[in-house]
Parts: sequence; structure tokens; C-alpha cells
Amino acid sequence: MTVHDGLMTDLDYDHLQRAAKDHLWMHFTRHSAYDHGDVPVIVRGEGPYIWDARGKRYLDGLAGLFVSQLGHGRTELAEAAATQARELAFMPLWSYAHPSAIELAERVAGYAPGDLNRVFFTSGGGEAVETAWKLAKNYFKLTGKPMKHKVISRSIAYHGTTQGALSITGLPSLKQQFEPLVPSTFRVPNTNIYRATEHGAPEGLSPEAFGRWAADQIAVAIENEGPDTVAAVFLEPVQNAGGCFPPPPGYFQRVREICDEYDVLLVSDEVICAFGRLGHLFGADRYGYQPDMITCAKGITSGYAPLGAMIASDRLMEPFLHDGAMFAHGYTFGGHPVSTAVGLRNLQIFEEEKVLENVRDNEASFRATLERLKDLPIVGDVRGDGYFYGIELVKDQATKETFTDEECERLLFGFVSKQLYAEGLYCRADDRGDPVVQLAPPLICTQEHFDEMEQILRVVLDKAGTLL
Ligand SMILES: Cc1ncc(COP(=O)(O)O)c(C=O)c1O
Repeated sequence: MTVHDGLMTDLDYDHLQRAAKDHLWMHFTRHSAYDHGDVPVIVRGEGPYIWDARGKRYLDGLAGLFVSQLGHGRTELAEAAATQARELAFMPLWSYAHPSAIELAERVAGYAPGDLNRVFFTSGGGEAVETAWKLAKNYFKLTGKPMKHKVISRSIAYHGTTQGALSITGLPSLKQQFEPLVPSTFRVPNTNIYRATEHGAPEGLSPEAFGRWAADQIAVAIENEGPDTVAAVFLEPVQNAGGCFPPPPGYFQRVREICDEYDVLLVSDEVICAFGRLGHLFGADRYGYQPDMITCAKGITSGYAPLGAMIASDRLMEPFLHDGAMFAHGYTFGGHPVSTAVGLRNLQIFEEEKVLENVRDNEASFRATLERLKDLPIVGDVRGDGYFYGIELVKDQATKETFTDEECERLLFGFVSKQLYAEGLYCRADDRGDPVVQLAPPLICTQEHFDEMEQILRVVLDKAGTLL
């Protein structure tokens, strides 16, 4: 197949379409959507842009899938991968080690908040979540609290698709077809302040009081389940599913107090939020709290190779350091040499190019640019932090009335999603909760890219408003 500058011959293009439809099983994809249309095929990327097989350019408004922190086409990262593959393509971390895994573990431990300094590599985010839950259970069994095994997480939160991570996930529509899942998980309200009362919060709370209320629901759940049975609570710094819910002031500080009071481990699921998405290496740093574990993935390599990690403290590893004890858990590709070599180079570039500073310097203007869209009647809320935003669409700005399932389907998937892409913006329209457009561009983006996003969103959302 010949591809020059993202273009290919009609023959090659037709073959690719046929083969995609006949053989490729895509993830979370309604395949029938392509019965009468082409599968979008992306062939190349450069900076914050990607190109399809017909040569059309798109702004990557989602960093692939919250992954491409440094953007596309970075030869330094490609070279780091090639050099490592030539030297040592594979070695597992099962009783053996290799230099780039050791060096990346040391670097990540140096960055991680407080006493977190033990890094267990995985292949991705869901595996990191599984690892954290298994460690929590195993740790308590070894330290005299064998009943502690349950997990608390928040409604609408997404934590992955493996059966444990899916069980922790708070999206019934993703779970029902796979029931029964791993038992012993319980949901508490999330921090959607825009719709706080609809999720049970008392009327008229200040953000601080709402944060206190939402955190206290965790204590209520622990009491309901029995403190002796609860092992961990899994929370994202900014919850993605539902459309970017940042924590209200004081929320995580109160959660920390509750976890200490009940001896429950606080797991900060930073699969999206770590590595610069919020202008810090970890979301816990941004909001000033100390987790007992961090789960991360995605941006650790900017997507040039797959990698995830669970980060814990000496305290959690201690029971496994003596008398032949072992955490009987692992993945063939967890800490793959190519991935860890890429991760190391990626994080070096973060420092060389002051990537975190770029996010911090520009986040206010990114927010302000997106907030200009609030003059469109269909835009109900613009929320998020760093380079991570959700724009909630509503039927009525004043009453916050949302859409019916049928309207959502027609508007979000029938029009907004397709039209944003047609206009040159790759991002995500999502209805796991109330309908939102999600934006999380590469961390190298600047005002010109924010303006481009806003202009495309304006055209499409304005038109969507007339289709109600
Ligand atoms: C917060 C969170 N946890 C876990 C996962 C699962 O990660 P993966 O798809 O790499 O398994 C995701 C994926 O987006 C996520 O956002």
C-alpha cells in the first residue's frame, strides 16, 4: 500500500475500507454506523493535527484518547522506541529487570506526591486499576484486616473494562450485559455541582459545602457497608465520564480525613489526569491531597507505546518484602522495555520543553475561549481544569433541562459528533450522563488551536440548536 502525505490511491482506499468492515472489530463501536459510510481512517499526525486517508486535516481535540500529550510526529520518541527495540526488545519484569523500567520507576517515584515511591508497571489503565484493587485486598489480608475487600467509587465514573475495573465503574449501561461482575463495589455521588441537587445534594450549598457533602457520602457508604469490610475508594482528580467534574474546594481534604478515620485506602485514578493534563505531573498535586495509590497510563508515553502503572508507598509494599512473600500478580507486557524507554524520553521532553508550564500558562485562556460559547443557547455549562474540558449541552439554559434519549441520539450522534469531524475537529460527543462534548487537546496547544476549536464548535453547536 502506498501512502504519500496521507494520500493513497482509490484502489488502496477501497481495499482498506472493505478490510476494515470485514475484519476489524473496533472498540466501543456501533459497526452499523458504517453500513452506508466510510470508516474514518487516520494515517498520520504532526503536532496537534491528524490527517485521514483522503488527506484531510483535523485538529486532535482529544489527544487521541487523552493520550498524545506531546502531540504527533515526535521523532525523538520514535527513536527512543527504535533504539530500545534494537538493544533489547523484550524482557518481562517477572523476577528480572531491565534498565529503562528501573530508570522510569525511579523517575516516576521522584515525581509522585509524598511517600509514593513504588512503581508497578502494567500495559494500560484498566490493568493499573485491577492492580490497585488486588493490592488493597492483599495488603489488608497480610496486615490483620482480612475482611477489608470492598471498593467505593462514584456514579458515572469510568475505570476500565476488565471485570474488576468494570465493576468499579459507575455506568450501569456499560455493565449490565456482562453481569455478574466482581461483587463488593458501591457507588457514591460524584462532584457534578451543575446538577448537584438532582443527585441528592441539599439546595443552595456553596461549592465548599457541596464538596463537604459529597465527601461525607463516602463516610456514609463506609458506615453502611461496615468499615471492617471496605478496602479502598477510587476517585479521579477530575472525573471524566459525565463531562469533567473538578473537585469542589476542600473535597479531597475531607476524603483524606475520612479514609484515615476508617483505614480505607485512597486510590487516585489518574489514567487521564496524570502527566500534565491538569498542568501538574499528578492531579493529586494540583488539588493538594495525598493518595495511598495512584493509577496512571496514557500520557506517560504520550501514546508512542502502551504503558500503565500503579504507584504505592513503602507502607503498602512492606508486607511483601519479607519471608518469601510475593504479590502474585503481573502482566507479560507490563513495563515492556520499548514502552519504558519511550516513557523516560517523554518525561525528559516534558522538562526540556516546559510542557507543564505551557498548560499552566495557557489554561485560563483555553477556558475563556471555550466560555465564549456560552452565548449559544444550547451550551449549558463549560467545566474542567487544565487542558481538560466538558461542554454540557442543554435544551434550555435557564432551567438546565436536558435532552430525552431520542433527542440525544438524534442530536449528539446523528449530528454534533459527525459534523464536528466533518468541520475538521476530532473530539468526543458523549452521553454517559448528560450530553457533553469533551475536549482534551495535546499539551503543546496554544491560543491559535483554542480559537480553531471554538470556531468549529460555534458553527456546529449553533446549527445543532436550530435542530431541536
Ligand atoms: C479514569 C480511567 N481509569 C481507567 C481507564 C482504563 O484505561 P485503559 O483503557 O488503558 O485500560 C480509563 C480509560 O480511559 C480512565 O479514564
